Amino acid sequence: MKYLIGNHKMNIVDKGVFTNYLKGLKKINKKSNNAVGICISSVYFEKAKKALKGTKIKFAAQNIYYKNSGSFTGEISANMAKDFGAEMVLVGHSERRSTFNEDDKLINNKLISVLNDKLVAIFCIGESKQEREQGFTNKILKNQLVKGLKDVEKSDIKNIFFAYEPIWAIGTGVSASPKDVEKAAKFIKNTIAKMYEFDNTDNIKVLYGGSLTGKNATEILCLANVDGGLIGGASVKLDEFEKIINHDYDIECKLECKKLTNCKN
Ligand code: PGA
Repeated sequence: MKYLIGNHKMNIVDKGVFTNYLKGLKKINKKSNNAVGICISSVYFEKAKKALKGTKIKFAAQNIYYKNSGSFTGEISANMAKDFGAEMVLVGHSERRSTFNEDDKLINNKLISVLNDKLVAIFCIGESKQEREQGFTNKILKNQLVKGLKDVEKSDIKNIFFAYEPIWAIGTGVSASPKDVEKAAKFIKNTIAKMYEFDNTDNIKVLYGGSLTGKNATEILCLANVDGGLIGGASVKLDEFEKIINHDYDIECKLECKKLTNCKN
């Protein structure tokens, strides 16, 4: 079983299209044994809450502000998202970091607010192309983890999906290689385990995001330290999303592992 979470960004912009999407997703999901979720625009929460009732599909807010209420024009709180049925919130996505100038301090505040409201956080971290080329990948990941997790309780780590999203792989059609994904995922798990003095990494879940498609899903999702994926472009088109969701990874990874290194099983 893998955690497969779609990130629609602002790519579904018509409520009729979104309604049909939900209908289609429900059908596809019936055949899936994975845990499926979607990060959607807040204007669609009510619609998603109704349509997904009684299914196992969860939906997430793509963004929240960390205060509960007040004079924050244009913002919504984690509690408001929860009230409208969201069970998860995306925090620290590179598009929020770059386009909306979100820094580690703000991201940390948002993460704490999400966890305080008993929602699951999908916390994104990742290096730029330049940082990778200069050999700074681990340094950047560690820095984002240390700053982002400031004052986050040990007991809350299990309520966070850590999404490793190399910035240069997002929306480019060029995913990171399985070897590099596994290296980063392992580093993330070990860093958190050290920070929190965990005996093992069983409670730490890492997702990979960045040009994940039906074609590369198995080789990346079967990696030993990858528990699932955060899927942008391919989650918006249902036929593409289906190619990622409708795998029995428990069986396929066993077969795939005969060919791959760094594999689970
Ligand atoms: P992508 O986006 O799959 O289109 O690369 C991933 C993301 O931004 O979460």
